[in-house]
Amino acid sequence: MSTPENIHPEFDRFLGREDKEGLLRQRGVVIWLYGLSGSGKSTIANMAERMLHEAGRFTVILDGDNLRSGLNNNLGFSDEDRSENIRRNSEVAKLFASQGMITFVSVITPRRALRALARETIGEDFVEVFVKADYATCAERDPKGLYAKAEAGTLKQFTGKDSGFEEPEEEAELVLDTDATTAAECAQQLHEFILTRTAST
Ligand code: ADX
Repeated sequence: MSTPENIHPEFDRFLGREDKEGLLRQRGVVIWLYGLSGSGKSTIANMAERMLHEAGRFTVILDGDNLRSGLNNNLGFSDEDRSENIRRNSEVAKLFASQGMITFVSVITPRRALRALARETIGEDFVEVFVKADYATCAERDPKGLYAKAEAGTLKQFTGKDSGFEEPEEEAELVLDTDATTAAECAQQLHEFILTRTAST
């Protein structure tokens, strides 16, 4: 780790957030989608992003699997590694939002404490969106074949099986229930929420 007294962060001299947001005619935000693997996070992010793009909004998706193939490729699925994963993803999301971008983050984020860490890092730009689906539903969908591997015992520390997932209590700003609603309807709901939230003043 670097020695803090030799690090000199500098933000004020750089072109400001308002200038970027003025150019983009939108306000930056982090839409933090979390839930079990296969719950529909990436699908909903993908659909909502396309709707926003059509509406002239500038977006980016930070997807858990994609980030784990690059920035986070030295991390596994222990509690410690998941925490470091969320710390890094939060810092990256914060940078994007500070440049005026509508930033989707699509990561399991299984623990309440991890979501609290993201919220604390990102501050008022953070919007917590729980993508809700039962383990049984996700296991049935099993788009990546991971549930089958977890059942067979060849994939360890799997979320919802031998690694915990804590549902939110009151803290989620939005809950998208993909057991009860189609992904397209969830995306539409999210799209409308984001349009209002990021409208330039
Ligand atoms: S998190 O728990 O640290 O937030 P993240 O969203 O980055 O997880 O990564 C989850 C993705 O990694 C899943 O979508 C899945 O494709 C893959 N994966 C591989 N092994 C596991 C595992 N043991 N538990 C959960 N997801 C896993």
